[in-house]
Amino acid sequence: MPELIPQLEKLLAEAQKTLALADEAALSREETRLLGRKGEVNRILAAVPGLPPVERARVGEAANVVKTKLAAEFSRRRAALKNEFASELTEREWIDVTEPGTASPQGSVHPTNAAIEEIVGHFERIGFRRARYGEAEWDHYAFGALNMPQEHPARDEWETFFLEAPAHPMLGRPVLTPHTSNAQIREFERRKPPIRMVSVGKTYRRQSDVSHIPMFHQFEGLMVDEGIALTHLRGVLEYFFRNYFGPARTYRFRPFHFMFTEPSFEIDISCGLCKGAGGICRLCKAGWLELGGAGMVHPNVLRAGGVDPLRYSGFAFGWGVERTWMMRAGMQIPDIRMIYGNDLRFLSQFSV
Ligand code: FA5
Repeated sequence: MPELIPQLEKLLAEAQKTLALADEAALSREETRLLGRKGEVNRILAAVPGLPPVERARVGEAANVVKTKLAAEFSRRRAALKNEFASELTEREWIDVTEPGTASPQGSVHPTNAAIEEIVGHFERIGFRRARYGEAEWDHYAFGALNMPQEHPARDEWETFFLEAPAHPMLGRPVLTPHTSNAQIREFERRKPPIRMVSVGKTYRRQSDVSHIPMFHQFEGLMVDEGIALTHLRGVLEYFFRNYFGPARTYRFRPFHFMFTEPSFEIDISCGLCKGAGGICRLCKAGWLELGGAGMVHPNVLRAGGVDPLRYSGFAFGWGVERTWMMRAGMQIPDIRMIYGNDLRFLSQFSV
């Protein structure tokens, strides 16, 4: 069968052509077809014993040469494929280490926290010590020791969040602090007069509208010493007001009633949104926005705190942080709820 040799040569020539472009899968397929146990080359080798003796040696040798050459072709192509993959990978995953990086977005201090720091700073400068008391409190500290008798409707008026936990046999039910005035009693338990304290805390009430949110912050001031009078209260609040809001802003003390101070006041600021015009302003009442309450500490509260009211007197005040911040010069925030809307377009205007 002399045509076997051309067949072998054809196999080799074809393989050289197809292997040049073969991928890994085609390569394996071709390898099985040509060099496999039942492959083309073996098929020819199997025919060798049946050839005339003169042909056997020639065809057998040619078949083995082709077999070796084919094997070499396969391993060459395999090596080439490996190289291609490696250089493609290098190309794809190449990084320019000198290229400037992509800046990741930076957070900033929330306006409420920035306001707290600034507000507290003003009081620290005139000798008030910073304090912080808990947000979960017993009725005794939030109401009872603040001169509110058990049946007093104030507990409803505060629209308090009572905690679903067992009451304390002496201190009553646990609540989320509806105001920071609990800090007055807590402070009395820790130190004796002279006291100058400013305490900031989270406060909770069931309220939500343009000037109310269910979670807000208050700062509570307390000053107790011998001979403290209403003029001291007036002076300290005037100092804070001027430093925080500037010389041009107006405020008023409006007589009010709190169980824990006597006399009591509420402090209003001329509304920054309507510039005190009132009328159709959706935020304030007739041009004034209430910022907080204040007054001379009631003798019963001093007594509840173990302080002798015949020797000592003092004042206290409690203001809303968010409203105070909203009323800063130049601010135009029409709805207090925007502060906690988590809208970065709003918040980023105040990032420092
Ligand atoms: C009190 O909470 C008294 N404890 C203040 C006080 C302290 C009086 C010490 C005397 C002596 P009032 O309920 O008015 O008072 O709240 C004080 C301030 O907290 C308000 O003027 C307002 O600025 C802020 N505030 C009250 N409720 C909310 C609310 N839901 N959302 C935002 N701010 C509020």
